[in-house]
Amino acid sequence: MNAVYRTWPSLLSAALCAFGAWACESPKPPPEPAAQPTEVVMLSDDEEEPVHDGRWVYEGNCAGCHNENGDGQGPTMLALGLKARSFAQGGFAFGNTREAIFRTISAGMPGSSVMPSFKATLTDDERWLVVDYVLTLCPRVDEKASGTALTVRDRPQIARGLLPAVVDGQPEWPRGILIGTPEGLTFEYRTDDVRLLAVRQGDFADRTDWNERGGGELVPLGKAFFTIGGGNPDAPISILRTGTIRPGRAQLRATIATKDEVGLDYDIYDSSDKRAAIVKERVRVEALPLGGVFTRSWEIRGDREANNLIIDVGAPAGDCEWVRGVPETWQQIGQLFRTPVRQDGWIVAKRGDVFECVHVAADKNTWLVKDSNSVRLYVPVFAGAEHVGAKVSATIVMTTDWSEELLAELGKEIAR
Ligand code: HEC
Repeated sequence: MNAVYRTWPSLLSAALCAFGAWACESPKPPPEPAAQPTEVVMLSDDEEEPVHDGRWVYEGNCAGCHNENGDGQGPTMLALGLKARSFAQGGFAFGNTREAIFRTISAGMPGSSVMPSFKATLTDDERWLVVDYVLTLCPRVDEKASGTALTVRDRPQIARGLLPAVVDGQPEWPRGILIGTPEGLTFEYRTDDVRLLAVRQGDFADRTDWNERGGGELVPLGKAFFTIGGGNPDAPISILRTGTIRPGRAQLRATIATKDEVGLDYDIYDSSDKRAAIVKERVRVEALPLGGVFTRSWEIRGDREANNLIIDVGAPAGDCEWVRGVPETWQQIGQLFRTPVRQDGWIVAKRGDVFECVHVAADKNTWLVKDSNSVRLYVPVFAGAEHVGAKVSATIVMTTDWSEELLAELGKEIAR
């Protein structure tokens, strides 16, 4: 096979790294009150003393929010209509090594989070004890992970922090998110205006230069095989209104990283700061015997009339040769696009040796627009006064070897 057919190592390793049974063990019953001997054999005669272990610290200080089993749905959180971090899902933003968790507990979480600092209320010893207890509620941590290296095991991981420039000479991003998937791809987002910067393949990330409030530099370790806008992309979602296209401003609402769903929820604001749309953007790694095949999808709900959106799917752009996908049907949407549009199918462009193949699947209201240098989706979220909403997805394949047969094969896989 051609060089592009890499094996898909991480799928295998994900399957092999069986989720340690102890990791998802159901919670033990709460400890009996003091002086009540448990099955733990007391070595000395101080049976009168309560057992000041990690679980005791946890139940007294953390379970109200994180719940006894660590699922993040403790009574305090439920009362606030919120959820704390679920330990069972892993994926700590600030790292899952003992040191990282210790720092999180000591410093609390930066930003608007309600996760408090325990520096004043718990001693160092108590904090270390509770760290070890929290780890028993988490998916198993890679034993090799030490210091600041973050690894992804069997669930997606999210890490936030200062991201170095994707390409030399481009800006660094003080607020960034890395989403690492068990399949070995990492999605690198700038989060102040929700923009996908790059997709990487390889190890996850190294957190250097830690400081107590978080925000140390987060160095993604994988190789960027897909970069948008040279590492400094334009706003990916624009608003089309009365004949004018203006970039929308995105504001992050939530990050999602579960076994089934990975991505970001955000709102799009127009130039007068009115909310125009609510977006769920998801990423998925396709389990295909090719390196680097992934799908981005957007589920969009319009919030105001006459907001039609244009999504730049981020590929391909600039000096490339269009190989496939100039559609048979030419349509014109208003006076704006004197360009080909269609609802789904493949577009293939070639840049240097690499073919960038984009498969777009859109629902019936949505149109794919290929202009001279990018692939965009025209997404009406209102038709007249009627809200229509939209769901679109784009699967991106980077390969040095392109053929119609390959596309046909991929098409079948993606349709599954
Ligand atoms: C008042 C509620 C509350 C209490 C009490 C609380 N937490 Fe949290 N904790 C949260 C919330 C909410 C988050 C998620 C914050 C976010 O994602 O912005 C969180 C997140 C965390 C994280 C994940 C940090 C990361 O890197 O993603 C850890 C670890 C943690 N808490 C440990 C603890 C421990 C240990 C205790 C007790 C010593 C504790 N928490 C007490 C609310 C609480």
